[in-house]
Amino acid sequence: MCGIVGYVGDKQRPVVPLLIDGLKRLEYRGYDSAGVVVVSGGELHAARAEGKLGNLVAKLDETPLDGTYGLGHTRWATHGPPVERNAHPIFDSQGRVAVIHNGIIENFLELKKALAADGWSFSTDTDTEVIANLISSKLDGGGLLAAVQAAIAELDGMYAFAALTTAAGNGHQEIVAARQGPPLILGMGNGEQFLSSDPAALIAYTRDVVFLENGDVARLTPGTVEVFGADGQMVSRRRRHLDWDPVQADKGGYRHYMLKEIHEQTQAVQDTFAGRVDFATGEVLLDDFEVVDAALAGATRIHLLACGTSWHAGLVGKFLIEELAGVAVEVDYGSEYRYRNPIVDERVVAVGISQSGETADTLSALEAAQEKGAKLVAVCNVRGSQATRLADGVVYTHAGPEIGVASTKAFTTQLVALYLLALRVRQARGAKPVPALVQPLAKLPQALEQVLELEAKLEKLARRYRNAEDFLYLGRGINYPIALEGALKLKEISYIHAEGYPAGEMKHGPIALIDENLPVVAIATGDRVYDKVKSNMQEVNARDGIVIAVTDREADDLEEVADEVIQVPRLHDLLQPIVNVVPLQLLAYFIGVRRGADVDQPRNLAKSVTVE
Ligand code: M6R
Repeated sequence: MCGIVGYVGDKQRPVVPLLIDGLKRLEYRGYDSAGVVVVSGGELHAARAEGKLGNLVAKLDETPLDGTYGLGHTRWATHGPPVERNAHPIFDSQGRVAVIHNGIIENFLELKKALAADGWSFSTDTDTEVIANLISSKLDGGGLLAAVQAAIAELDGMYAFAALTTAAGNGHQEIVAARQGPPLILGMGNGEQFLSSDPAALIAYTRDVVFLENGDVARLTPGTVEVFGADGQMVSRRRRHLDWDPVQADKGGYRHYMLKEIHEQTQAVQDTFAGRVDFATGEVLLDDFEVVDAALAGATRIHLLACGTSWHAGLVGKFLIEELAGVAVEVDYGSEYRYRNPIVDERVVAVGISQSGETADTLSALEAAQEKGAKLVAVCNVRGSQATRLADGVVYTHAGPEIGVASTKAFTTQLVALYLLALRVRQARGAKPVPALVQPLAKLPQALEQVLELEAKLEKLARRYRNAEDFLYLGRGINYPIALEGALKLKEISYIHAEGYPAGEMKHGPIALIDENLPVVAIATGDRVYDKVKSNMQEVNARDGIVIAVTDREADDLEEVADEVIQVPRLHDLLQPIVNVVPLQLLAYFIGVRRGADVDQPRNLAKSVTVE
């Protein structure tokens, strides 16, 4: 959703470039508009622009702003169209409080009515304006901190916001921020403090961070950071040192983050299993997993909860856990789970799969499972995120920062983490570790290297098929979720309509779509269903459809049924999806680029969906 960033400091850093630099790293969270506010000479000065951050930068080039401290925002519109009028920072009607906000205030209409009756006026369509007016209405009795604390007592909904004021008596540098739901991270420097929706915006300046808890209010001045809990009392929150490498968050010479992240999969996948398996004994070693182990030992069912690409990882996870550990698994969308009545008791273990650990639907589903007695596991990429704090045990994916909105390395590392989890479930239920089950992991990095060598071939295929209006992706068994993921990648970044389907189901409907213009990407690997998928390709071929086969066999084997053959290395059947998805990521990437789409920031999307 939206991205927020803030800075106070006595270092005399130029504040606007710092805020813009932070926003660049947060733009994946939304790019409907951007804005900054700085304080100079005891006055608030703001600049806002519709559309991408570049428009704001151009505006600032023409009319520069300067100040000593300030806030920045990049917007993913929820209330009101994505026009400059609704761009943040949003001011109160007296022009003395500026607010940047990520989230949704559910009772904003009621509050707006009450504030309007008291003489406060509104000039935007946003719910944020209610926050600004509310804070301003409470300023006169005390400082900004007290006003924010009083204001949040009246807010219903989800928010991470930061406020500044130049009201009389507030001559010192001060930012007050509050969190209820979406992430908010404070960065501590020497004589300077930062805040952001994502550590990626801070790591160039400091690695020492605090993740605010729900209900927290923080006050930042150049020399101090104070955090107050929901009861208004000062609290001490754990300071963490991030070990991320700042260059990891840059494009590193690639044209797009997405391509860079596709290439980083070799390392990311290796980092995710390294040190967690004993190749000699077959044991899986996970830190702080005792509570979960005890729950897994007697679990009757495992629920995998996630959204989007992470949900596809969950579908693969079901195969892994059922096959390796023999426990029944249900996979649910976070957004559906909480609105049905899932059968959950203390013998259920619920696993939330989330790159960001901040997806509102996944978090709500986890909370719903926890309320009914389930123990929670998070499979997550972001340390300290909400999912990891809710969970009784965490399996981190070591993908590093993923900036491209379309998930790639987060997905393949989730598959590795789920493989480890499946083996750990098996172990927790008393089965003897089997070295032969962990050893195939060692072959993954090299297999990924090999598959990345197909880049030029996929670029060529993308040129050939970039004008197709629809694509069909077929897979069976553990590769059916890979067909879904291939279709999602293409939809997201090229805006071509694509459907993923279980290959065997094609004859029950989608076969009607097939003609000479429809490319059908079919995944035919492994032994179990290879011949079946080959027959499905034959059915497409007989109806003049275009068959693009992803296979681990010799190309000759599919010569008669496929127009294009993408040959991938062969691995253990349960790890094969990790390799199979890579050509589909590359195909989607190159088609998106060829069609001139903005592959790192596709329209209407945001990286972390922190609203329902
Ligand atoms: O951070 P999460 O893994 O919880 O995000 C879930 C989805 O929003 C995410 O996977 C989304 O589908 C991506 N755009 C996929 O590329």
